Amino acid sequence: MSFDTTADNRHMTHFDAHDSVWLFGYGSLIWKADFDYLERRPASIEGWTRRFWQGSHDHRGTPESPGRVVTLVPDEEATCHGMAYRISPSLFAQLDHREKNGYLRVITPMTFDDGSQVEGVVYLAGENNAAYLGPASPDAIARQIADSRGPSGPNRDYLLNLAQALRELEVDDDHVFTLERALLG
Ligand code: SIN
Repeated sequence: MSFDTTADNRHMTHFDAHDSVWLFGYGSLIWKADFDYLERRPASIEGWTRRFWQGSHDHRGTPESPGRVVTLVPDEEATCHGMAYRISPSLFAQLDHREKNGYLRVITPMTFDDGSQVEGVVYLAGENNAAYLGPASPDAIARQIADSRGPSGPNRDYLLNLAQALRELEVDDDHVFTLERALLG
């Protein structure tokens, strides 16, 4: 697969005829909601865990020196907490561009804080995408984040903003907070 998933995502037409669709955000989509949404609510998805295992060649790094951003990794025991946005399906063109470095739109059930469930969309960067970096030690990940910057700014801001947003949502995420401590260490 190429680095640019825009064309693949264009084939995901499942929600095109709907008035609105719920998008689950677990990374920058939690703290950088610079798009038009109709409503937003804290939500979670089952069976996935957040990891800084995805390379960023376009936002928080460069092709020569990629940064690290989050994707979701399958984990039967895990619940990933984030923020859901109700959006118009017409917004996907803009979001596909933002998430083009390996992320594909995938249909997922999500659960709101009151226990109600809807089917919506999550951007997922699977282990076969060209920008995938995979696991590394917390110190190595934190060092790479400390050393990287890209057109959207320093990679460290991505990690620190995500950690702060998770604290505000009262979400305990050991992976993210361990990396934050290693970065600030
Ligand atoms: C997301 O936030 O849901 C996807 C990953 C990112 O854009 O940081």
